[in-house]
Amino acid sequence: MEEVPVKPLHISENARRVLEARYLRRDARGRIAESPEDLFARVARAVAGAELRFGGPGAAARWEGRFRRLMTGGYFLPNSPTLMNAGTALGQLSACFVLPVPDTMEGIFGAVRDMALVQRTGGGTGFSFSRLRPAGDLVASTGGAASGPVSFMKIFDCATENIRQGGKRRGANMGVLRVDHPDVLAFVRAKLDGVSLQNFNLSVGVTDAFMEAAAAGRTYPLVHPRTGERVGRLDAAEVLAAMAEAAWACGDPGLLFLDAVARANPVPELGPIEATNPCGEVPLLPYESCNLGSLNLARLVRGDGTGARLDRRRLRRLAAEAVRFLDDVIEVCRYPLQPLAEAAAATRKIGLGVMGFAEMLVRMGISYDSDEAVAVAGDVARELAEAALAASRELARERGPYPAWRRGGPAGDVPVRNATRTAIAPTGTLGIIAGTSAGIEPFFALAYRRRALDGEILTEVNPLFEAAARAHGLDPRRLVEDVRRRGRLSAVPDVPETLRSRFVTALEVPPERHLAVQAAFQRHVDNSVSKTVNLPPAATPADVAAVFRRAWELGLKGITVYRYGSKAGQVLELGAGD
Ligand code: CDP
Repeated sequence: MEEVPVKPLHISENARRVLEARYLRRDARGRIAESPEDLFARVARAVAGAELRFGGPGAAARWEGRFRRLMTGGYFLPNSPTLMNAGTALGQLSACFVLPVPDTMEGIFGAVRDMALVQRTGGGTGFSFSRLRPAGDLVASTGGAASGPVSFMKIFDCATENIRQGGKRRGANMGVLRVDHPDVLAFVRAKLDGVSLQNFNLSVGVTDAFMEAAAAGRTYPLVHPRTGERVGRLDAAEVLAAMAEAAWACGDPGLLFLDAVARANPVPELGPIEATNPCGEVPLLPYESCNLGSLNLARLVRGDGTGARLDRRRLRRLAAEAVRFLDDVIEVCRYPLQPLAEAAAATRKIGLGVMGFAEMLVRMGISYDSDEAVAVAGDVARELAEAALAASRELARERGPYPAWRRGGPAGDVPVRNATRTAIAPTGTLGIIAGTSAGIEPFFALAYRRRALDGEILTEVNPLFEAAARAHGLDPRRLVEDVRRRGRLSAVPDVPETLRSRFVTALEVPPERHLAVQAAFQRHVDNSVSKTVNLPPAATPADVAAVFRRAWELGLKGITVYRYGSKAGQVLELGAGD
């Protein structure tokens, strides 16, 4: 295999601050004890340690070098827990877990404990609360009334509030409740007060039958989770409207399309998938986990301007190396609970994705709001998925398929090492470290303040934009000042159309286009796609409901909307003057 030529990643000022605050190891006196290069070397060495089990010291040394170059070259970064914990005593490397919540006191508080043990290692946790009996239901042992899922979720939330992940970042949770749970409306409105469940993202688990009932104006049954009895009926369109209204007001809930997830479940014989990780990109069975990694598309553009194109060969080669990296992570990861180790070993799920999609488009001279962007999205996703599948098959030849693999599953008759291979993560911090746009999102603004890492405020002006402004003969300082004040270019007078369309930002991209890009990726990605459909402040609850319906029609596995201004202290804020 050809070596990856390494032009080292430029570590920006913001990246350095993030690395220093949370990622670089410290000595006993709390002084920083490694450089970013040392960090990548530590991670490469720890992960390539897995190669000793399969190929011996020669292979380990060879792969250590390749893994280090993947990271120092800025081509690939694994999820945050891998960067933080590889080669340390903690050794837990996965970002995503799902834990079961059984309908007993032991079960519920066991799950709180398990959550704490996962979160202190830096992992995020997702739960289905659908099995809990509804509020007011009989408790046999005491004759009292049950609290219901929303009330118990507050205990999980409070526990998270008090555990910082590995002491390094806030814990994150996903809470899912099925739409036919009797407490669904309480769940839908649980975050509307602006103070409850702040460490949770919420998703209503909806079925095709529910979406069809909503479209047809029919009612649907509520089902008692313990007895399976039908205990009432609701108007589906009204429930969808209630979800849209809550999401309009506070960003939650999103929707999880359970049937789309079930259709893509690679191991249905192990049970139904009821929940995802916190940001929604990985549907998982109880106790399963997934480690993520992201290729930096901005580093994969060859040429400039109209002649620029995606370097497919390099994308495929890097994807193959990254799949090996992520499979090795499963080998060396120290899982905080035995059932987690067993579930990871059974399906070996990994999620290779991309970041820097928006930057890649800018470099190729393509507007995010164009048919061409959607076509490029599909192209990238297909190359990624095919390369990852090929690499996982190659690993299965070398190391054997995942133990739960069976002939004729969704990946076909050829053994494969990993039950899933691709996912599109938000890359909230990885994007900062790599100095590129997050995940597959458009640029949020061209100049903005970013509230990162528990309240710190970083100001950023997009460097690509500065350069492009200069190339158009515009005074970048004045333009940047204008953009900083108004947040986006379309609000600034006298800007050439080419510049305006290339640097279109999240709120200027119509919802339909956000959905089309998400769908183009989802068509090829075997896990899910983390994507926010941004809506302007003037959007209505009916607009949100329309996005929900369209997401289902497009076959997405989940959908999240965010109306600008609907959340206080939001992570990203437009223009420094706002
Ligand atoms: O960029 P980074 O690797 O830090 O994370 P991300 O791509 O923004 O998020 C990927 C996953 O990490 C999320 O879906 C969560 O499972 C987990 N996460 C978490 O547990 N806690 C956070 N504060 C952020 C992310």
